[in-house]
Amino acid sequence: MTLPPQQPTFHQLFTTDHDAVRAELLAGLTAPVAHTAPKFLYDALGSRLFEAITELPEYYPTRTEAAIFASQGAAMATQVPAGSTLVDLGAGNCHKAASLFGRLAPRRYVAVDISVDFLRGALDCLQRQFPAMEMVGVGLDFSAGLALPPEAVPADSPRVLFYPGSSIGNFTPAQALAFLRSVRDACGQVAGSGLLIGVDLVKGVAELEAAYDDELGVTAAFNLNLLLHINRTLGTDFAVREWQHVALFNAAESRIEMHLQARHTLCVRWPGGQRVFTGGERIHTENSHKWRLPHFQALLAEAGFVDSQAWTDPGQRFAVCWARAL
Ligand code: AVJ
Repeated sequence: MTLPPQQPTFHQLFTTDHDAVRAELLAGLTAPVAHTAPKFLYDALGSRLFEAITELPEYYPTRTEAAIFASQGAAMATQVPAGSTLVDLGAGNCHKAASLFGRLAPRRYVAVDISVDFLRGALDCLQRQFPAMEMVGVGLDFSAGLALPPEAVPADSPRVLFYPGSSIGNFTPAQALAFLRSVRDACGQVAGSGLLIGVDLVKGVAELEAAYDDELGVTAAFNLNLLLHINRTLGTDFAVREWQHVALFNAAESRIEMHLQARHTLCVRWPGGQRVFTGGERIHTENSHKWRLPHFQALLAEAGFVDSQAWTDPGQRFAVCWARAL
């Protein structure tokens, strides 16, 4: 007997508060050291530019992580429980998780992203490829908390929380610890549950800086596109040509920083305000922290995870860690 194919279900737990978004942007732009949160890099064009970044010769993280999954997936599958509820944090187009279905054999796939609409198309397509798997899309800003709808994560199977791509690097170590604690709480009570996470490792400055300042200028476009996004959101009059992309490794903080630097003294105006930037003044737009593997595993332990294991590429550029919640 063949069962009827499953249909994905969707939960939207997040609606954009446009006033709050504008207030947050404005507070950052008018702060003594101007700054914006990295999430503002991802409007429609920014998301496509990021996808292009992942194909650049200099941007090693995406392909290195994929190579680790390809070459060590069998070893991972001996540790990560099968028949799980696979919870994909920041699922986007769902490609990464889907490429692991064969290895990890989850029974249920829960894709979490800020935009449930973005998930709809991806999950409808994936459901046709995997008709027997239960699929759930959850629209949630999990940086603000990881309250998953109980019906999406029943207690009938262990949970595997999946956070690939080194997105954890956007958090400072203190923020990362708080986030990992909330992830551990979200792992629930079923034995065997845990976290599968990708993390970018410390390496030579030249290789790091090239990955964030590529020869084609795609990362520069990704960073500068933020100004167009802010213009649309706040009604500012940023002129892209007056700004320069800067990416540098801050060794003391062990992070790549992206900034936009004013090429000369200029004034940005918006309805109700303005700010003068002197030549060379910067807007800090992103941090991407790089970890030493033992430090990251210590952080996992501090967050309450146990028995962490790591797989890396031969060049030790990137690591994939598995750690159990209980
Ligand atoms: C999506 C946060 C993992 O930090 O490497 C890529 C974002 N910024 N190039 C990263 C990014 C510039 C990326 N993460």
